[in-house]
Amino acid sequence: MDKRPIGIFDSGVGGLTVVKQIIKMLPEEDIIYFGDTARVPYGAKSKATVTKFSEQIIRFLKTKNVKAIVIACNTVSSNCYESLSETFPELPIIEVVTSGVETCISVTKNKKVGLIGTQATVSSGAYERRLKRADSEIEVYKKACPLFVPLAEEGWTNNEIARLTVKEYLGGLVEKGIDSLILGCTHYPILKSCIGEFVGENVTIVDPAKVTAQKLKEFLAEHDMLSGNTSEGKREFYVSDDYANFDTMCLIVLSSPCKAEKVDIEKY
Ligand code: DGL
Repeated sequence: MDKRPIGIFDSGVGGLTVVKQIIKMLPEEDIIYFGDTARVPYGAKSKATVTKFSEQIIRFLKTKNVKAIVIACNTVSSNCYESLSETFPELPIIEVVTSGVETCISVTKNKKVGLIGTQATVSSGAYERRLKRADSEIEVYKKACPLFVPLAEEGWTNNEIARLTVKEYLGGLVEKGIDSLILGCTHYPILKSCIGEFVGENVTIVDPAKVTAQKLKEFLAEHDMLSGNTSEGKREFYVSDDYANFDTMCLIVLSSPCKAEKVDIEKY
């Protein structure tokens, strides 16, 4: 048994979509969430910069005595996972790309797969490489959708501007005949209903979050690291800058209010 909390981070509110699945899967675990609201978006930044930001966040989470880290961010998972694992060998680190790939392989029938994510995720080739390694016949049609991040951060989840943006980005992918669409950015499930309405019911939307939560549970169970608590876990939220919308988005995504505390992340 291990009563220490689980550390989870993202550039902003996107990772809350992963927190939601982790709370469902592991309700009795304590969680410390960090959203890098001062430096969002990550998707347009270089690998070196995003690696530095992630290292600072993990150092901060270590001060909270976390037992494992969940990278609730595809940009970090696809660009920095290996180097973060080397920098912090003492900490188990779970990322989201593996889960997205496995989920997608299990749902695609025609092997035409759409992948949307940030520019950094799409150009890393991480999803494509792993999908093709799993099944060389898979064709991946990809599109970076950078404007989905500010829409999600703003809570514009299904208004006219969101619908037009979805149409502009996804029109070309749907024309290719994809039968599944990977939401390769943890902000995008916030726009899921808008995306789903546009792509239609013949396209299965793949959100890596659920399988990520499952993998975390399996890992903790295998290593005897589940908390063993019998009551609901504690949840703490931290941000790197004041962000008025954080509490609102928490309520929208997690259906429960939260109060985020500000941390000077540059110190770490
Ligand atoms: N939510 C993140 C991801 O999954 C980062 C988005 C961003 O900050 O650009 O990629």
